[in-house]
Amino acid sequence: MNTFALTKLSYGMYILTTLDGDKPVGCTINTSTQITSTPTTIMISVNKSNYTNECIKKHGKFALSILSEKSDPTLIGGFGFRSSRDNNKFENVDYEMKEGLPVIKAANAYLICKVVDSLEVHTHTIFIGELLDAEILDNDANSMTYAYYHNVIKGKTPPKASTANAYEKQEEKKEEVKAVYKCKTCGFEYKGTVPFEDLPSDWVCPICGEPKSNFEKIS
Ligand SMILES: Cc1cc2nc3c(=O)[nH]c(=O)nc-3n(C[C@H](O)[C@H](O)[C@H](O)COP(=O)(O)O)c2cc1C
Repeated sequence: MNTFALTKLSYGMYILTTLDGDKPVGCTINTSTQITSTPTTIMISVNKSNYTNECIKKHGKFALSILSEKSDPTLIGGFGFRSSRDNNKFENVDYEMKEGLPVIKAANAYLICKVVDSLEVHTHTIFIGELLDAEILDNDANSMTYAYYHNVIKGKTPPKASTANAYEKQEEKKEEVKAVYKCKTCGFEYKGTVPFEDLPSDWVCPICGEPKSNFEKIS
């Protein structure tokens, strides 16, 4: 069996949001797709230990902000490598409330759903949401794919993601190891042509926005 075949599945990149009481919460996901058109339903797969999971169960509604290739990748890191349990992920994020839920302005579209069903599958919950509202925010921006995030932005996926490991294992296999610095928060590995030491002091991780001091040399 060749599990690298899983990297040939296609996904988008989304910021999944909901409310914890009246506080906006959310996380990055890549596992979502439309299930039916009449009525319109979509599915999301959310790790049971993600705070967003328990908040969706309580609130009963969620919003998906669809990221584009123009969206700032630090949104992915900011929402994907920290928990709303102990962080306000919306602090420096431009968002607006739609149908009572936070929507990321840098997305190219959003979908708002009410949960109509769910299924517990090992580590994750599949929520089925019926569409309540949807709008395009930027018709000219291509939606970001999960492959683009990995292959162009060179982002990583944490273990809690539904699709964790496939890309990481493939990258480990492909890469010859040279002087590499790794972000302690999101795992981004800096391998640019400019030596890490020569990067300006205000350089930040392109994925999660942490400063240069948050990097450690791994090889
Ligand atoms: C690229 C990427 C894709 C991700 N995809 C998923 C996913 O599909 N499902 C999921 O449950 N978590 C996914 N995650 C992980 C969550 O975003 C992460 O565990 C987050 O810290 C959870 O935050 P919370 O505790 O505030 O809910 C992904 C993270 C990244 C960076």
